[in-house]
Formats: sequence, C-alpha cells, structure tokens
Amino acid sequence: MAQSRNVIITGGSSGLGLALAEALLRRGDHVLLLARDAAKLAAAITGLREKNPHAQVDFIASDVSGAQIEADIARAVQTLGGLDLLINSAGILREGYFEHLTEDDFRRTLDINFFGAVRVIRAALPWLRQSRGKIINISSVAGLTGVFGYAAYCSSKYALLGFSETLRAELKPQGIRVQVVCPPEFDSPMVDALDQGRTPENQAHALTIPKLDLPTVVNAIVAGLDRAQFIIIPGVQTRLMTFGLQHFPGISRWVSDLRIRASYRGPTHQPKPVQKSGSGA
Ligand SMILES: NC(=O)c1ccc[n+]([C@@H]2O[C@H](COP(=O)([O-])OP(=O)(O)OC[C@H]3O[C@@H](n4cnc5c(N)ncnc54)[C@H](OP(=O)(O)O)[C@@H]3O)[C@@H](O)[C@H]2O)c1
Repeated sequence: MAQSRNVIITGGSSGLGLALAEALLRRGDHVLLLARDAAKLAAAITGLREKNPHAQVDFIASDVSGAQIEADIARAVQTLGGLDLLINSAGILREGYFEHLTEDDFRRTLDINFFGAVRVIRAALPWLRQSRGKIINISSVAGLTGVFGYAAYCSSKYALLGFSETLRAELKPQGIRVQVVCPPEFDSPMVDALDQGRTPENQAHALTIPKLDLPTVVNAIVAGLDRAQFIIIPGVQTRLMTFGLQHFPGISRWVSDLRIRASYRGPTHQPKPVQKSGSGA
C-alpha cells in the first residue's frame, strides 16, 4: 500500500471536497476537512466514519477569507502531524447578468475563490517545503473560457489558474508540486442551488460542455495526483471541448453565441436577484 499522506482539504464538508476526502481516506491518508459551518463538518465526518470505520479524519471550522486562517492552518497541520497535500476546493458561485451583479458579489467571490487559496497556500508553505508536498487548486472550465452569467465566478477562476501557473514555476525548484483542476459542471450542492434560479442563457451556455458526475471528477483528480500533468481536465469530452477552445476559439464562440441567442432574455427582461450557490455565499 502507498504511504499514508497528511492532507488538508478546504471546502471539505461538501461536494467535490467531501468526495475527494472519501477517496483519499480509502487510500489510507489522514485527512483534515476545513470549511465554515461546524455542524456540516461534523455531519460530514460522521458520514465518512460510517463508510470507513478506520478513517483518520478531523475537521477545523474556519473561513478561508477570514483573518484567522493562517493560525487555523497551523492548528490543522499540528492535528495532522505534518502536511503532504493541500487541496483548495472551497468556493462559491454567484450567477447572474453582469448588470445584476454588485461590486460586493465580485469582491466576495474573489475573496473566497482566489484570495482564499492564496492565504491558505501562504500559511501552509513552511510545512509543504519540509515534506516536498503537493498543492491542488480547484479552478474550473470557467477558468479557461468565459461563461454567460459567470462574470464574477470566471474572474475568480481565471485568477486562480494564472496564480497556479506562476506558483508551479516558483515552487518546483523547492520540491513542491502544484496542479490545477479545471472540471466542467458536475453534480454537487453548488449546482443544485444554481439550478433553482440560473439565467436561461447560463443554462444554455454552460451545457455546451457536458456535465459530469462527481465520481468521474474525483477519479480524474486522484489519478492525476500520481501523474506529472499540471492541468487536470476531467472527462474526455471536456478535453475535446477545451482543445477546441484553444485551437479554434472563433468556432467555439460562434457555437456558444448561437445557443445564447436561442435562449436570450437579457437583464431587462429578468430583473431577479443574483443566484447565490454554496452556503453563506
Ligand atoms: N460543481 C461544479 O459544477 C463545479 C465545476 C467546476 C469547478 N467547481 C469548483 O469546485 C469546488 C467545489 O465546488 P462544489 O460544487 O463541491 O461546491 P459545494 O458543494 O458548494 O462546496 C463548497 C465547499 O466550500 C466551503 N466554503 C465556501 N466558502 C468558504 C469559505 N469562505 N471558507 C471555507 N470554506 C468555504 C463550503 O462549506 P461552508 O459553506 O460551510 O464554508 C463547502 O464545503 C469549488 O471551488 C467550485 O468553484 C465546481
């Protein structure tokens, strides 16, 4: 059996973070979940222990956008007894027409999805240097292409991708490996909330890239962990779509524009609030 790793997963109480925790615990890793809602974290731990009575799993309730995160990461590493792998999965989504998104929507999204990862990584670096560990940042296909309704979200995921690319180059000489994941839409509580009120144009545009089930995304990440690839793109169809985006961007935009035109309502026709996905988003 492979050597057990000490792992912190931000956003570990739900969706992708929780599913990754389950997969890594099965492998024998010691995992610490970090998210804001302590009750949700406790329920997540109970569920994980029910599935795997030998699971070495802990949690710390903390906000990646809060001032205490540095101290909480130190506490997390102390609980684990070291740190080999850091997964930044904490994220929120605010979907809506640009005209309906406020500056606060942009700031909040960037503060959690981008600056949250920056803060957590800065705090974790001393221990990752010691272990010559790994960092996995969860960006999105929305970090590779613009998506209708995701002005704030795409900004945060593009920023995370650019940051990860730079960090990869800077940390490699120190023995720390950085990878970034760009999944398409997959089943999770974030998407369940989104589906309750997304704009029709977002629905049409997002589905130009087929949705995946959660296990497919988890398997791609777990397999990618043991490979050298920097960008992990789960799903064959997603990889084909992103190849198209990179090499034939004009055609990709033309297809999206056609879909958007067919469903277009626009900000003046739908004066409804911005859709907030993720608890406390
Ligand atoms: N679902 C998709 O289709 C999709 C596609 C591509 C990329 N992604 C990305 O994948 C990641 C996971 O998404 P998901 O779908 O699994 O979402 P999810 O089920 O809503 O989980 C989000 C997690 O992040 C935590 N979180 C949110 N804000 C936080 C904060 N300020 N500090 C600490 N933890 C925080 C949440 O717990 P609390 O609310 O209790 O803090 C929760 O554990 C996100 O980065 C998302 O952008 C998702």
